Amino acid sequence: MGNVNYSDKIPNNVNLSSDRKLQRALESWQPNFLDWWMDMGPLGFQQDQIYLRTAISVETDGWAHFDYVKMPDYRWGIFLTPPKNSRTVAFGDDYGKPVWDKVPGNVRKELRRIIVTQGDTEPASVEQQKLLGKTAPSLYDLRNLFQVNVEEGRHLWAMVYVLHSFFGRDGREEAEDMLVRRSGDDDSPRILDTFNKPIDDWLAFFCFTMFTDRDGKYQLAALAESSFDPLARSTQFMLTEEAHHLFVGETGIRRVLERTCQLMQETPNEDVRSVGGIPIDLVQRYVNEWYSTSLDLFGAEDSSNAASYFAQGLKGRFRESSKRYDDHVALKGTYRLRKPVNGKLEEEDVPLRRAMNMVLRQAYIEDCERGVLKWNAILKKHSIKSAIKLPAEQFGRSQGLYANMPFDPSGQLLTQEAYDARKDEFLPSTEDLEYVQSLMQPVYEPGKFANWIAPPTRGINGHPIEYRYVKFDEHVRH
Ligand SMILES: [Fe+2]
Ligand SMILES: [Fe+2]
Repeated sequence: MGNVNYSDKIPNNVNLSSDRKLQRALESWQPNFLDWWMDMGPLGFQQDQIYLRTAISVETDGWAHFDYVKMPDYRWGIFLTPPKNSRTVAFGDDYGKPVWDKVPGNVRKELRRIIVTQGDTEPASVEQQKLLGKTAPSLYDLRNLFQVNVEEGRHLWAMVYVLHSFFGRDGREEAEDMLVRRSGDDDSPRILDTFNKPIDDWLAFFCFTMFTDRDGKYQLAALAESSFDPLARSTQFMLTEEAHHLFVGETGIRRVLERTCQLMQETPNEDVRSVGGIPIDLVQRYVNEWYSTSLDLFGAEDSSNAASYFAQGLKGRFRESSKRYDDHVALKGTYRLRKPVNGKLEEEDVPLRRAMNMVLRQAYIEDCERGVLKWNAILKKHSIKSAIKLPAEQFGRSQGLYANMPFDPSGQLLTQEAYDARKDEFLPSTEDLEYVQSLMQPVYEPGKFANWIAPPTRGINGHPIEYRYVKFDEHVRH
């Protein structure tokens, strides 16, 4: 189970060749996936040799193999964490009963919706990041972008495998639709709004991988607890890959701030714009934007869906089966929400199960805060007084209790006029976006970095920072 079979057309550790029908169905989806990749994957780099990691086992130690590969030749496949003997339902009404190998009829619709919603985000992010290779600040970053992209493609495979194997014709149709919707398309957009937002520059990319991919981590972690065992095992291995995406985001912003500090110290009046750096307040506005849109992904604060997903054993809390929680049924207890009533926030206790989105989100926020602390340690090290702050949960929301209300980042409710007048203080202005765009000039020389970002502390897989992480095809001009 640990090792992956690479002699099959579709690499897998699920003994795919023993199920001819499933194998044929997935093999007929495979060329459509490749067409989608060529059409919507990274533009202009499909012929180049990228130093990528590929999963060769699902064991946590030594699962990855690194080598040069052209992206269209990447071996996308199906890798599930091995089953645990006698795993039992970890939460909800059926707590303690055996987990399911098949989809129970009474939760089929809900499970399909959960899997499709998760699956849809994977190709969406590849589409959002399609043009970024053209402006990469270094070969190291270019390679990381493509690593993230191919693995999001593999995450799509993970969800499509579950749909094909367990949802019959509906599942096959959903898998087809996954390659039809397009991020930002007016007629056929991706399912969740955040995945229709453009990612036009690398600062947005780092914020996305820091905050939006991290939502992905928590959604996957909730599904890794699922009573539907094949889904739990698929998402468990996705989480192993996901860690690198979060690393790219967190260290990306850290390196931007590091460089900003250096430039501030070298420049009179600390005017980093005059020397091509990214000011801290501008980074803060990007953080405000991407953090708040990522909070939206957790869904409504008070949610009957969340309650029934928990009751039915579909979506658990973060690390539900660890020691984090004593009570896995959660019929007792409440959660305190702050609901806006006539322009004021009033506290209200809701039954704990209805607040499961919030419980999951709370774990996410703590994780984000850990990352921000590390960023602020950089500023402190350079004796810079300002600090990056996560905005209040009410700010900038399009979903839930505070949707479209004019809160400022500190959580004060403004009048709509006051909000509109100050909007450019809170979120990236047109001028900010244009300035950042003006910095986006590619740097493709090994070991060199764009002026607005510091080098990383180390390279990939033990290689030096100046390693040639991407070897360009000599016939393609970049
Ligand atoms: Fe993913
Ligand atoms: Fe990711």
